[in-house]
Amino acid sequence: MLKRVFYCLIILMIGISTTLQAADSDARIKIDTERRIGAINKHIYGNFAEHLGRCIYGGIYDPGSKLADKQGFRTDVLEAAKGLNVTILRWPGGNFVSGYHWQDGIGPKENRPQRTDLAWQTPEPNTFGTDEFIDFCRKLGTEPYFAVNMGTGTLDEARNWVEYCNVKDGAYYAELRKKNGHKEPHNVIYWSLGNEMDGWWQMGHKNAEDYGKFALEAAKLMKWTSPNIKLIAAGSSNFYEGSDPHGWNRVVLDYLKEYIDYIALHKYVENYENDYYTFMATTQDIYERTAIVEGQIKEAMSKMRNPRQIWVAWDEYNVWYRARAGADMVGRNALEEKYNLEDALVIAGFLNAFINNSHIVKMANMAQLVNVIAPMFTSPTDMYRQTIYYPLAMYANNSHGCALDVFVDSPTFDTKQWKKVPYLDVSVAYNENNEVVINVVNRHLTDPIKTDIIAQTGEFSGTFSVHEVNGPDIKTENTFGSEPIVTVEKAGITASGNKITYEFPAHSYTMIKGKLK
Ligand code: AHR
Repeated sequence: MLKRVFYCLIILMIGISTTLQAADSDARIKIDTERRIGAINKHIYGNFAEHLGRCIYGGIYDPGSKLADKQGFRTDVLEAAKGLNVTILRWPGGNFVSGYHWQDGIGPKENRPQRTDLAWQTPEPNTFGTDEFIDFCRKLGTEPYFAVNMGTGTLDEARNWVEYCNVKDGAYYAELRKKNGHKEPHNVIYWSLGNEMDGWWQMGHKNAEDYGKFALEAAKLMKWTSPNIKLIAAGSSNFYEGSDPHGWNRVVLDYLKEYIDYIALHKYVENYENDYYTFMATTQDIYERTAIVEGQIKEAMSKMRNPRQIWVAWDEYNVWYRARAGADMVGRNALEEKYNLEDALVIAGFLNAFINNSHIVKMANMAQLVNVIAPMFTSPTDMYRQTIYYPLAMYANNSHGCALDVFVDSPTFDTKQWKKVPYLDVSVAYNENNEVVINVVNRHLTDPIKTDIIAQTGEFSGTFSVHEVNGPDIKTENTFGSEPIVTVEKAGITASGNKITYEFPAHSYTMIKGKLK
């Protein structure tokens, strides 16, 4: 009898303590500095500049403008881009590259031909070409990443471009570069073998076999010209009715496995239905597609006597759906998407997904840098930072080192496609200074989520800085002279021991940073 009363008491006490715990905090994030996913490659904070709309002309390059420097680069854009710590910049496309002949864009400007770009139905003056792009990259302090034309281009064009950029002297195109005023080679390391060749919309679109064969020959010639280059294969782009993205990747990996260092994937997400939670969950797809292609890489490697590493590059990603039809898709003002707070939260979701896949994702490029589905937006006389600028800047300037495999216990939501999606979307970086950088998106539309952040190894110490991107309304946008959505520094947290409790506000992105050792 006494025993039974004792057991009842114990059960009651456990019950009470669980209820108290649940009432106290809604969620838990457990951090163990020994559970590591992989090194966060700085190139996941890359960007993309295509000859499309006003990205190059009127964005990066605007020689007539009062805001331009002597080389014609917009200084306001350069300064804002520096704030994004752009680590690698992809160029010149995108769909544009599949009709681009690089030799049109070198030499004296008065001799360069104007062409018509069929991808975006726009005249291409070619006043911005290889040497201007390299100059821009040097000013910005970023790594250039070129894409070659695998649509209407030839094998010779691809290898000659590598020669122009990377061979010191003696060779014909190396000498041409020198004649054009660039004595030293440009040393372009990253080259992608075309763009979205799986898409019917691509000039010179191919099936996987034809692309694999052609890209393999291009890869050989490019590597023989400059053995240190790194090659990126055009993997599957955004899915469309009738496409076979996984089949494409398998064939491409099989053909190119001995030459490529990365396979590129693309992802654009949308909110046509104005369904907030479905939109918030769209970045789940990054986890799924990364896992699938990782398995396919393993499969390809298993067929090799000397397996090599192939990484994943998400070399185009963003929110894109408003400026995606009719007049918004062509011409000088194409793709001028305006972003709001919910888009900024989705961008934080993308970045969490890249960090949480750090073992295999070694590059990511927001598409694009300015004006065209971009974090910066210009007029002839002004510029502003769109909402999506702010999370990207926070991650790119802070989340470095090693990605930790954190345990997250959070309330969840369901969508048609994804079940049990945690409201709290989390990634954690741990750097060589024993700092943890905790990125948390609270995707709950209305409720704050009180969370215990628990260190399972070491102790928190000192003051933790807290930065937040949020706003009164998820539909709030920035515009010229008015940026309601920015990063706000909140009161720091004085931490000691192994627990920090913090309440993440509804529809917010928060970065908490401090010492853990
Ligand atoms: O970034 C805009 C376009 O989206 C790119 O040109 C193309 O690669 C993708 O379809």
